[in-house]
Amino acid sequence: MENSQSKGPLVKLTVLYDNHPSPDKRLKADWGFACLVQGLEKNILFDTGAKGEILLHNMAQLGFSPQEIDGVFLSHHHTDHTGGLDRLLEVNPNLTLWLPASFPDKDKLAWRQQGATLHEITTPESICPHAFSTGIIEGWIKEQSLILEVNSGTIVLTGCAHPRIVNIISKVKQNFPQPITLLLGGFHLAGFSSREIVGIIQNFRLQEVKRVAPAHCTGEEAIELIAQEYQEDFIRISVGERIEIQ
Ligand SMILES: [Fe+2]
Ligand SMILES: [Fe+2]
Repeated sequence: MENSQSKGPLVKLTVLYDNHPSPDKRLKADWGFACLVQGLEKNILFDTGAKGEILLHNMAQLGFSPQEIDGVFLSHHHTDHTGGLDRLLEVNPNLTLWLPASFPDKDKLAWRQQGATLHEITTPESICPHAFSTGIIEGWIKEQSLILEVNSGTIVLTGCAHPRIVNIISKVKQNFPQPITLLLGGFHLAGFSSREIVGIIQNFRLQEVKRVAPAHCTGEEAIELIAQEYQEDFIRISVGERIEIQ
């Protein structure tokens, strides 16, 4: 009989691009976000950061080759999340792109001409076994989040969370009612009051978010408030951070 522990993959996450500097001085910090997802059928790069040279530099320092990436999941059309893609396609043109269908046609055309295979996302759908898109979540800018299914629950990766982090979590919960074992990415809370941020963190608890790894545009005050609430279940993100989760 199959052991339930063997059903879910061991997912390895590596933050390749973030504005929070690493203690490892070889790595470059820069405004933007990218996270490599390994351990599934496909190696998925979640967003690309702003500058391809910095993305490739950090990858090389961390021992990753661009050829290891099968596809890129683009959360939303902001250059601090998509700007590295052109350079990446120069060194690995055989990428699948999972991107919101709302991206401008001129970008889609240019990436196709560079060799990429585009998979345009509108509604929730599977990326590969154990990986899913939330589909486009409406906001002042359309955004998709990546959901990974592991034994301990779901992992949710967000780019900037422009449609609001609580709305994204609610959308995930509609199709994946299990606890969120890890919430990682930019939450875009810099403009919120302390009171509002505390309310959002309480919502994380209500929605069974078990561990939180705020990155990129979350805002320093929000990061510290999350650290206070989540204690050992808070993960401080800087470029190069590696997380393994099953
Ligand atoms: Fe961003
Ligand atoms: Fe953004």
